[in-house]
Parts: sequence; structure tokens; C-alpha cells
Amino acid sequence: NWTMENFIETEIQRIRELVGPTAEVIGAVSGGVDSTVASKLMTEAIGDRFHAILVDNGVLRLNEATNVKKILTEGLGIDLTVIDASEEFLGKLKGVTDPEKKRKIIGNTFIHVFEREAERIKPKDGQEIQFLLQGTLYPDVIESISFKGPSQTIKTHHNVGGLLDNMKLKLIEPLRELFKDEVRHLGELLGISHELVWRHPFPGPGLAIRVLGEVTKAQVEIARNADCIFIEEIRKAGIYNNISQAFACLLPVKSVGVMGDQRTYEQVIALRAIETTDFMTADWYPFEHSFLKNVASRIVNEVDGVARVTYDITSKPPATVEWE
Ligand code: XMP
Repeated sequence: NWTMENFIETEIQRIRELVGPTAEVIGAVSGGVDSTVASKLMTEAIGDRFHAILVDNGVLRLNEATNVKKILTEGLGIDLTVIDASEEFLGKLKGVTDPEKKRKIIGNTFIHVFEREAERIKPKDGQEIQFLLQGTLYPDVIESISFKGPSQTIKTHHNVGGLLDNMKLKLIEPLRELFKDEVRHLGELLGISHELVWRHPFPGPGLAIRVLGEVTKAQVEIARNADCIFIEEIRKAGIYNNISQAFACLLPVKSVGVMGDQRTYEQVIALRAIETTDFMTADWYPFEHSFLKNVASRIVNEVDGVARVTYDITSKPPATVEWE
């Protein structure tokens, strides 16, 4: 009979047979559930012959790279290298305002950086890296077979075809038969913290699609700090797990405000929080007014450059979850 405990055993065996006694495996991690679970499973199977890489693209959440490094290395024993490629990504994003262009640039730069760094990981025993780990889930498999819609562009960053061809890597996808809730269950059995296992999804292009208009370091910092306050308050209120996804967007408009007896003229943060089962449709989350009041006041007071906070009360459809 199929149980998750059995799945772990069989999958570890299958990975060991597939990889063999000496070959090495690399994989990208994002700090999300899927790549962390896949990496942990891989580490259980082949130990430090699995090498994880986290690319810091300069549009991650506050302290994300440091936190992921800590959790994966110290907490889960995964061999992880963090690559700070922020300057490279931000350089390429300079002057770009079109959302799809941003996605493409981030996807392509990611592949470029990952390929370069993977070349650098030369295992001590002279073994070649032969496999690329992907945390692909069953719904991704189905979608990539059957979908020809706009979601193809949504998944641009998942396109690792170049890596497979150029680096002559073979793909290994231990989660390809699982649904999201099964991956979470698997994660908990593998000893991954509840907090990580139940984390909201975060898009590959990161804060680049939450800074509307041009993405600069200063703009990213504003969005990042506002987002951090919002999520912190959501956790504090004990409602994180009632919400499917929540984040702050920085709008490319200025608005007049008043601070003391000074007029200010600064930017606007839009908060977004949704409930959904499949992300195809979504409702905005009905926060208590006092909660919103507190978050707005914290953001305006603590984040330089923000004079106004709004809450997005549009459902999907007609709006999407993200603003870009
Ligand atoms: P939308 O905005 O399409 O979002 O209603 C639905 C879900 O998809 C996520 N999303 C993305 N994830 N790369 C990703 O990895 C992307 O380019 C991207 N665009 C949207 C979004 O965060 C939400 O969970």
C-alpha cells in the first residue's frame, strides 16, 4: 500500500540506483517548499554528492539568502552554496519596465549564472556532475504537457532546457508524481520546519514584478521593507495559514502626504492578500480594519519613501494575484 513513509524509502532507493555510486548532482534552491523538499530528499539519498545552489538575484525578500543558508545548511545538512548575483541581475534590469521583459531577463540571467557557478563546483574526486535536480510537481508536469496559454510565459524561469543541453545534464525529478499537499506532508516527515513547509508561494521573478516600473536597488528596498512588515504582522496576528499568499507592491506613483508640519511627496504601497485553492481564482482576504490600520501606520512610519498605503480589494478574475 502507498504511504508517504514507503514513498520516501522507494524514492531514495530509486535515486541511488539512478545516480549510481559516484556521480554528482546539482540543483537550484529558492527557499520555497518544493526545492527544499527535493534537496532534502536528495541529501538523504546521496549525502554531499548533492550540491544545492541559491542564486541571490537581488530581488529576494528581506534577509532571504541568509535565512535559507542557515536553515538548509545548519538545519537540514544540505550542501548549499549561495551566489550573490544581485548586481548582475539589477544591472540587466536597468531601465526595463515591461513585466514580461523583466521575467525573461531574470529567467535568462538565472540560467547564465547557474551554469557558470555549476561549472565551478568541481567535486574533489574529479567526478563529473551528471544530474540536475528539479522540484517539479505533478501539476507542473501536466501543465507543461497540456497548456499552451499565457502560463507558458509564467513558467519561463522554469525553463532549464539550456542547462540540460549545454551542460549535458540529465534531469532528476523526485517529486514529479506528487501534489502540493503531498510535498508538504513529505517535507514534514523529512524534518523540515512547519514554517518553511507552509510558506506562501513566491514568484521566480521575485520583487522585480512587485516593484512596478523600473527596478532599482532603492525601489526594491522599499518594497522589501514594506513586505517584511506586512508578513510580520500577519504572522503576529496568527492568520498566516488562513491566507494563501500575501505581499506588498510598490506603485510607481507619488502622492502628497503630511508629516508633522511638512508636506511630503512620496510613493504608494499596495498590499495584496488572497485566499484561493488553486490560484486560478482568488478572493481578497477580509482583514480586520484595526489590522490594516496598524500595518499602514507601521509602513508609513518605518519605511522611508512611502507616504500612503492601500489595500487591494479586487478578486481574480478580473485582477490577477500579482500586479505585473
Ligand atoms: P497571477 O498573478 O497569474 O498569479 O494571478 C498566480 C500565481 O502565480 C504566481 N506567479 C508567478 N510565479 N513566476 C512564478 O514563479 C512568475 O512569473 C509568476 N507570475 C505569477 C503568483 O505569485 C501567484 O502565486
